[in-house]
Amino acid sequence: MPRGLNSWVSLLLFLCYICEVVSTATVTLKSIEIFTTHEFIGSDPTVYFNCKGEEKIILPDLRKAQVEYAYKGQESWQPLTEFPNKKCKRCGFYAKHTIKSDDVFGEWEFCPSEFTRSDGKYIYSVDKEVNATFICEECVPHPQKADPAPKSENEGNGMHWAIVALISIIVSILVFVGLAAAYKYWQKKKRQKDQARFLKLFEDGDDIEDELGIGPLGGSV
Ligand SMILES: *[C@@H]1O[C@H](CO)[C@@H](O)[C@H](O)[C@H]1NC(C)=O
Repeated sequence: MPRGLNSWVSLLLFLCYICEVVSTATVTLKSIEIFTTHEFIGSDPTVYFNCKGEEKIILPDLRKAQVEYAYKGQESWQPLTEFPNKKCKRCGFYAKHTIKSDDVFGEWEFCPSEFTRSDGKYIYSVDKEVNATFICEECVPHPQKADPAPKSENEGNGMHWAIVALISIIVSILVFVGLAAAYKYWQKKKRQKDQARFLKLFEDGDDIEDELGIGPLGGSV
């Protein structure tokens, strides 16, 4: 029960830490690969990234499918978006068309909490459509993220010590009870021995009286 409570407190602290850390975290695109162009043969696609309510960001160099495009994160159109708080955004990759409506490679709830890897990477992948790697180092709860392991180890140690202490106490009590019982037994034995000696003394006394002829019987004769 105290362990469960502990985890809850840790979780709350962790969540608080996240909401503190994620104050306008920038998201950059590290790499992208599209698996289809959504275009008629011959024409190049115009692929853009968009989060609802924000500007469309056209990926200028992306021309071919089945090719991985890698970026430095400092390109003129970067960063892709920002997370002012821990709230998710509705974002997606689209192919722009002039005549028909835009095609969707993938659209999803993009959340800062998805950046759980220590290197700040998050891979968004839709089968046969798109595979994109994002970076948001500010989204990752870095410094305290590394701590939980040693902390739980300490917790384990604590448990260990508690068990050792408990066993020590129990052993002490048993030893004390054992000693008390032994003392009692010794006292009883001693009393019995004393009693026996006393009785023996009495009998011996009778014998002496008999010998001297001054016993109760002898006296009346
Ligand atoms: C997506 O891209 C990442 C990074 O380049 C790569 O490690 C991963 O294998 C790719 N996944 C798929 C399904 O292509």
